[in-house]
Amino acid sequence: MGRMSGKRAIITGAGSGIGRASSLLFAQEGAQVLAVDLNESVHETAELVRKAGGQVDAMTADVGNEADVRAYVARAMSAWGGIDAIFANAGVGGGALPLGEQTPEQWMEVLRVNLIGPFLAVKHASVPMIAQGQGSIVCTASVAGLRANAGGHPYSASKAGVISLVQTTANSLTGTGVRINAICPGLIETGMTRATFDYARSRGTSDRIGQLNPMLRHGVPSEIAHMALFLASDDASYVNGQAIAVDGGLSSTHPFKRRRT
Ligand SMILES: NC(=O)c1ccc[n+]([C@@H]2O[C@H](COP(=O)([O-])OP(=O)(O)OC[C@H]3O[C@@H](n4cnc5c(N)ncnc54)[C@H](O)[C@@H]3O)[C@@H](O)[C@H]2O)c1
Repeated sequence: MGRMSGKRAIITGAGSGIGRASSLLFAQEGAQVLAVDLNESVHETAELVRKAGGQVDAMTADVGNEADVRAYVARAMSAWGGIDAIFANAGVGGGALPLGEQTPEQWMEVLRVNLIGPFLAVKHASVPMIAQGQGSIVCTASVAGLRANAGGHPYSASKAGVISLVQTTANSLTGTGVRINAICPGLIETGMTRATFDYARSRGTSDRIGQLNPMLRHGVPSEIAHMALFLASDDASYVNGQAIAVDGGLSSTHPFKRRRT
């Protein structure tokens, strides 16, 4: 028996990085997965899941568009008749322009995908969960939502917003049996951070990546997928309204000069 045996789970941002790793892990642990992404690469994820023996459906959708969110929830409901978990994980980086060069349009697009996307996932996926009397919602925030210097202004604000969405929603779902939590990843090697890693490798400085956390390394997508699996599963039955950092300890410290022992 897998830890998601008999569970029906939607995963957004499943075409790459953390969402792809989570699709593979959830299916390996027995979940039926609906993989969702704006990019056609979501079908490659589905192929990987199937090759590994998992049960998966895949579709393209824009998580910040309410009609698309209704469509992915409707697809899950017509296939399964219920939804046990949703991992609202899709996101964009939004760049790191100086404050004076940022525009409301750039801010609105980052907020639309990174914050309105999870809001719409919560709004629509919670309906069948409330009717069932159980369900788990997991949203991807970031250490950038906890404090400065892990992303641009709109990115950080969007991720702080996700943490607030999780806290406020946990309370508005009081008594329903539906839990909601956020994951705050540190630096993970994915499509979103590829340019940073490629640049460091091209300069021969990749050994410096991740040196700001006490584990002295970056993370990999499966390390976030394992937290998503825990939160989505019944193992986390009393975990609710939390923003959990999975960052090698990055967010645990004040700035200081690190000494190796
Ligand atoms: N990689 C990191 O270091 C890191 C750190 C903290 C948080 N995160 C968060 O993790 C989540 C997953 O990102 P990742 O690191 O795996 O990056 P990624 O770029 O590999 O994956 C993100 C996926 O989201 C999809 N996506 C983007 N906009 C979309 C939209 N409007 N609708 C549907 N899908 C859309 C992309 O097509 C892509 O497949 C994001 O929310 C990101 O902000 C990443």
